[in-house]
Amino acid sequence: MLHTPVLLEEVNSACPDNCNLIIDGTLWHWWHSFHLASKTSHLIWMDIDPNMLSIAQKNLQALVNPQSKITYINDSYSNIDSITKQYGKADFILLDLWVNMDHFKIWDRWFSINYNSMLDMRFDQEQNLSAYDIVNKYSAQQLEKIFVEYADFTPIKSREIAENIVQTRKKSEIQTTFDFKKVLWECGLGKSAITVIFQSIRIQTNNEIQNLKTFLDKLPDILSSWWVCCIITFHSIEDRVVKKAFQQLASTKRFDLVNKKAIKPTYIEVQKNKASRSSLLRIISKI
Ligand SMILES: C[S@@+](CC[C@H](N)C(=O)[O-])C[C@H]1O[C@@H](n2cnc3c(N)ncnc32)[C@H](O)[C@@H]1O
Repeated sequence: MLHTPVLLEEVNSACPDNCNLIIDGTLWHWWHSFHLASKTSHLIWMDIDPNMLSIAQKNLQALVNPQSKITYINDSYSNIDSITKQYGKADFILLDLWVNMDHFKIWDRWFSINYNSMLDMRFDQEQNLSAYDIVNKYSAQQLEKIFVEYADFTPIKSREIAENIVQTRKKSEIQTTFDFKKVLWECGLGKSAITVIFQSIRIQTNNEIQNLKTFLDKLPDILSSWWVCCIITFHSIEDRVVKKAFQQLASTKRFDLVNKKAIKPTYIEVQKNKASRSSLLRIISKI
């Protein structure tokens, strides 16, 4: 198993012992959760992607102490309030955002720019909206907004790319990854800029920023009277959203920012796991 969880020690030490309920809202390869399992009698493991959840379910059953109660839920962490209504408030919640490396290897879902496949990018395959719809049906203004907000491109460059997309699809649909790459290439973008545009389309497809905001709005009501929440982000846009929400909660004096600044992986961790280099961990707890 090649996956290495990021900031594992830091998450582990932020999690109190003897929790009644721990929720991992983004399970995937379960590594964080597996290490947290000894600290609670009930774990809730969520992932929006049913494939990821069933892989985890198969592998985890054998690994975790049979005395721990585990509940698997295939849903978005943004719906966490319906889960706490059913199972009670949580003592510890972890979100480890971003896609996982397996997603990049699923070539037919168009998570990677390296494979030619139909535009898709949905975590949840039952969701209607796909990357194809965004690229082929969104107006130039809507596309421009995505590139400004989620790719940090200037409004002028974003408009140029959006207009190029609209002009191209008037001639024929942009159906595949490579069709889309070609349009971006013709706008003068290199590989890393193309990757960032792909990411921005993925963020829009899966409503990632809105899901995070919805979760953060619900946070004060879903945690028990003493609780901790850890959120790991890999993108400055996500981190800004978490930072602002945590600061607002802390300003009420009922919550404590466990670290004033986001925690970064150590030099050693980055050397061992290059994928960790842009990760940031923020922790908040109830006073
Ligand atoms: C970076 S991985 C988590 C890795 C995990 N902590 C580990 O140690 O193996 C992120 C996971 O979050 C899932 N995900 C993305 N958006 C989600 C959402 N809104 N609700 C629940 N899961 C989501 C993805 O399917 C992916 O499996």
